[in-house]
Order: sequence, then structure tokens, then C-alpha cells
Amino acid sequence: MQYSQYGTKFAQPSGILELMEDLDSALNRGDGNALMLGGGNPGRIPAVERELRSAMDVILNDGDRFERMIGFYDGPQGNGPFIELLADLLSRTYGWPLSPAHIALTNGSQNSFFHLFNLFAGRQANKTNLHRVLLPLVPEYIGYSDTGIDSDVFLSLLPRIQELPDRTIKYQIDFEAVEEALQDYDIGAICVSRPTNPSGNVIEDYELNRLSLLSQHSGIPLIVDGAYGHPFPGLIYTGATPHWDDHIVYTLSLSKFGMPGVRTGIIIANPEIITMLTRMNAVNNLASGSVGPVLATELIRRGSLITLSTEVIRKFYREKADRARNLLLSCTEDLPDVRMHKIEGAFFLWVYCHEFPATTGELYTRLKKRGVYVVPGKYYFPGLADDWPHKEECLRVSFAGEDRAVEQGLKIIAEELRSAYATGRIETG
Ligand SMILES: Cc1ncc(COP(=O)(O)O)c(C=O)c1O
Repeated sequence: MQYSQYGTKFAQPSGILELMEDLDSALNRGDGNALMLGGGNPGRIPAVERELRSAMDVILNDGDRFERMIGFYDGPQGNGPFIELLADLLSRTYGWPLSPAHIALTNGSQNSFFHLFNLFAGRQANKTNLHRVLLPLVPEYIGYSDTGIDSDVFLSLLPRIQELPDRTIKYQIDFEAVEEALQDYDIGAICVSRPTNPSGNVIEDYELNRLSLLSQHSGIPLIVDGAYGHPFPGLIYTGATPHWDDHIVYTLSLSKFGMPGVRTGIIIANPEIITMLTRMNAVNNLASGSVGPVLATELIRRGSLITLSTEVIRKFYREKADRARNLLLSCTEDLPDVRMHKIEGAFFLWVYCHEFPATTGELYTRLKKRGVYVVPGKYYFPGLADDWPHKEECLRVSFAGEDRAVEQGLKIIAEELRSAYATGRIETG
């Protein structure tokens, strides 16, 4: 069979494919014994599940609302009543000057990023030059890799690494490098996830403001991925505040609130960009799914989309973050080279194994054999030209699952790290 360039590019194996297949085999197909510390599935939170079930009950018992939800296409911009309520909610909460013309819905943030990156980066219409997406700080979200229709659309910059007490590090943006990149390359957009998946970093307000000014100055959008951020699911454990402006594209998702199955992404941007995305959505999807927006409409009406985020979900993950961090520190007490990123948001431990004698890809294979699923760090450096050893020295561990599984998994990870440092190798065969 002969395949197109597009087909060959998008059908090749990728990090995100491996991650999602692992997630499926551990959560949906296995015998239930796998220790799933890999993919980005949110944890099960009884209060959230009860609220979603009760919202669905209301929809089912409210005249023909259920039939309309599943029986009618929404428009290509997305479900109108939800967009209106959300524009009003964000305007009231943050004072952002938003109207419904500032919001478009997609079939999940992954779908948002495919549209956004290919809107702003790649070969320019009627020109030969390649515009890139600047990722000002890697490690950065695995799902961005491979989304460009053109090759090499990402340009990534290394972070500065701040050393903190208790074997903890924090990544910071190197603004000199950002300014150089903006001068030396054709940059079509800057993009940052806040909080960052995989590291749990939350870029500080001054970093966000500086990126915002630089992008405004360069006449390009700053895309801020708030999949874990404010106002829902609100997984930010520092005082960082959200920010929106006409040149900022802020993306949200219903997934990490507890609804990854409904595939709903939200894009907040100026009306010109929203019009472009609406047209792209019509061609690629006709419309976005209606189930997520209808459920979320019900939650906004009850006030629970925000209150559950701030009062339940954030607390749930924050406590898990403390438990996971303390456990990793205690079970690797004798391993001074095992460090981690400060957990400022999201639900991951980013374990950095300084001067690791093997690769974390080999460690991943070994752990999978022992029934522990994690994600090797190398996938979180999209567009990084540098052969930075750090890439092979990190591991992403999710602590969103059941405490028992996280505890068992972390103990096995510590055993394997101890063995690797002691023997200088990992048994993968
Ligand atoms: C930082 C980040 N952005 C976007 C996504 C995509 O989320 P979804 O497509 O489920 O909305 C994820 C999923 O893990 C993520 O971690």
C-alpha cells in the first residue's frame, strides 16, 4: 500500500501513542493488578462522580434535553448555551472582557492543539519559510510532539535549574534564550503549559507577564495551556494567577476535572482567531461533541464547576502530592542523586535521576515487566535540538490513582533505582 506524506507522518509510532496504549491496557483491559502511574488519567473523586451523575440525572429527567443533547449537532463554534455561560463566568471571575465570540469548543485539548499549532506554525501561505512554535521551557507536554503537519515546527529552550532543599529542583525560563530565539527564528506562536505536564512546574506570574509582553511585541500569540489550571480543575498549589489578553490564547479542558471521556476542549482567544478555529472545526469535525458542554452547563448553573475545583479537587491532589513526595523522599533516602521537581500543580512527580547509569527508557521497560507503568522522560522534549543528558535521566510518575497503587509503585521504582545505581545497569531482558 502507498501512503501519503501526511499518512506516513501521523501513522508512525509516537510517545503519545505508547502512553495511551499503556493507559488502555492498564485501566481497561488488564486484570486490574497493574500499577498505573503512567498516563494522565485523572483520579476518581467520589464527590465529583456524584455531582456528574446527579447532573446527568437532571438532564435525563428534563423534558427532551437528553434527546437534544445526543440527537442534534452543535454549531462548529460549539454548544451555544455553554459558551454563553462560560464567557459570563470568566468575565465575572477574572474581569476579562469576554463575549461568546471569544470562545470555541473542540473535541478535547489535544484537538485544540492540533488546530492551534497548524494555524500558527508550519509553512506560511505563499512563502517558503517555516514558522515555528516556541516552547520556552522544556520539559513540556508529550502530546504537543508530532502534531505539526510540517516537520520540525517546534523550537524548544532549556530551562535554568534552581536547586532547592530536600533534593528538589525547579525549572525557570531562560529569558535571554527566549529573546534570542525570537530574533533568530520565524516564530509563529509561543506556547507553555501552566501547570506544566510533566514537571508540575507553574511558571510564575512575572514569567507569564514577561512572555506575554514578548509575544505582544513580536505580534504573535502566546498560547497558555490551562488543562490543569484555573479556574477548573484548579490544580495550582502556588499563588499563581491566570491572565488573558487579546494576544493570549488560553486553553481549558473538562478532562482533568474528571471527564476525559467526553472529549471537550475550550479555547479562549480574540474573535478573529475564534472564527478561524470555528472554520477549521467545521472541516475537521463538523461540530464538537455536545455531552461535555451540556453536563458542564448544568454544573455552572449549580455553581459546582468552580466550587468542586477549589474546595474538593485541588485538596484531593494536593494531599496526594504531599504523600507521594514524602514517600519518594523516604524510600530513596540513601540515593542522593534521586531528585524531583517541586510540585506546584497538576498530579505528577517528575523524578530526576542525576548521573543515572542507564536510561529511564530502560527503566520504563524494566518497571513495565514488574507491572508498574510510568512514562520515560525523553518524550517530554519536543523540538529540542540539543542532546541534553537530562532527557534520559527523568521519569514521570502520576500520583492521581489509588494511594495503595501509588505507594506500591513508588516502592518498586525505588528498588529499581537503587539496583541501577548499585550495579550501573538495568536488566531489561
Ligand atoms: C498539558 C496538557 N494539555 C493538554 C492535554 C490534553 O487533554 P484533553 O485532550 O484530554 O483535553 C493534556 C492531557 O493530558 C495535558 O496534560
